[in-house]
Amino acid sequence: MGDILTLTQKALKDIDESASSIELESLRLQYLGKKGSISLLLQSIGAMPLQKRGQFGSDVNVAKNKISTQIQEKSKLIKEQLLEKKLQSEVLDLTLPGRKHNKGSLHPVTLTLNRINDFFISLGFEKVKGDEIEDEYHNFEALNIPKSHPARAMHDTFYFPDGRLLRTHTSSAQIHQMENNEPPHQVISPGRVYRCDSDLTHTPMFHQVEGLWIDKKITFANLLANLELFLKTFFEDEDLKIRARPSYFPFTEPSAEIDICCVMCEGEGCRVCSGSGWIEVLGCGMVHPNVLKMMKIDNNKYQGYAFGLGVERLAMLYYGISDLRLFFENDLRFLRQF
Ligand code: DAH
Repeated sequence: MGDILTLTQKALKDIDESASSIELESLRLQYLGKKGSISLLLQSIGAMPLQKRGQFGSDVNVAKNKISTQIQEKSKLIKEQLLEKKLQSEVLDLTLPGRKHNKGSLHPVTLTLNRINDFFISLGFEKVKGDEIEDEYHNFEALNIPKSHPARAMHDTFYFPDGRLLRTHTSSAQIHQMENNEPPHQVISPGRVYRCDSDLTHTPMFHQVEGLWIDKKITFANLLANLELFLKTFFEDEDLKIRARPSYFPFTEPSAEIDICCVMCEGEGCRVCSGSGWIEVLGCGMVHPNVLKMMKIDNNKYQGYAFGLGVERLAMLYYGISDLRLFFENDLRFLRQF
């Protein structure tokens, strides 16, 4: 009995003095484990005289319970102390700024396309989708460019083996519009176009916006006024100087190219405008009677204008970018500036 008491007191003291869960676990093994002191005491029962066994067994069990309870309590205490310590050391500074999420941004070509679209939509144009894969009829013939026409050579076309092609301009969208709808037509069609061409100022893929306005009284004066307003709005310059130069496109008559006063040198003459002081920004004209006839539009009743502009060209002039290839290299140092 004396042994049990001493053992219990020693165990309780050890447990009380233990400072970590590891220490506590080794004490548990030392006293309560399979080869621990308490187990050894229980095993020794077999060698005892019968009449002593009952009392001894119950004394050992009391001791065992005491030690076990004490270990559980101490374990709880250690965990609580640990948590308290952790809470004190891990102070949260709620005034720190939050983590930043890097947001993507729109590509300068997309930004430019959006601005162009917004302007024409505000004039009442409707945006229509065109297809990038076309046939020769929609890309050429219906636009008054027959097979032998020299203008075909100006379009370095990507052909598919079956004779279809990647559209060389968005003008093919005009044809779909007129085929599938009755006049009047007032549409723009933005999108990608493709040409077998790659050098400092040309990429095999680029973007255009096509415009078409056909109604009973649409005149060349409307064309010039609308495009002038567009360019002044686009370049945010009410005094922007503009000129229309006679030109040739098979699908318009008369045809013109619109130049703006060079935004880099303000007309003085520089590298960008090849010293001329002017930069061409778009092609346009009155829709050719042959095109209207092919589209079964009565050209005595209806007339109108069309135009096509290059989006990368406008983006370069607007943002002051001198190298076309920057648009397509996906260099984040460039793209992050927009
Ligand atoms: N399709 C022409 C090109 O790619 C641009 C163009 C010029 C479109 C005159 C038109 C137009 O609609 O009337 O160079």
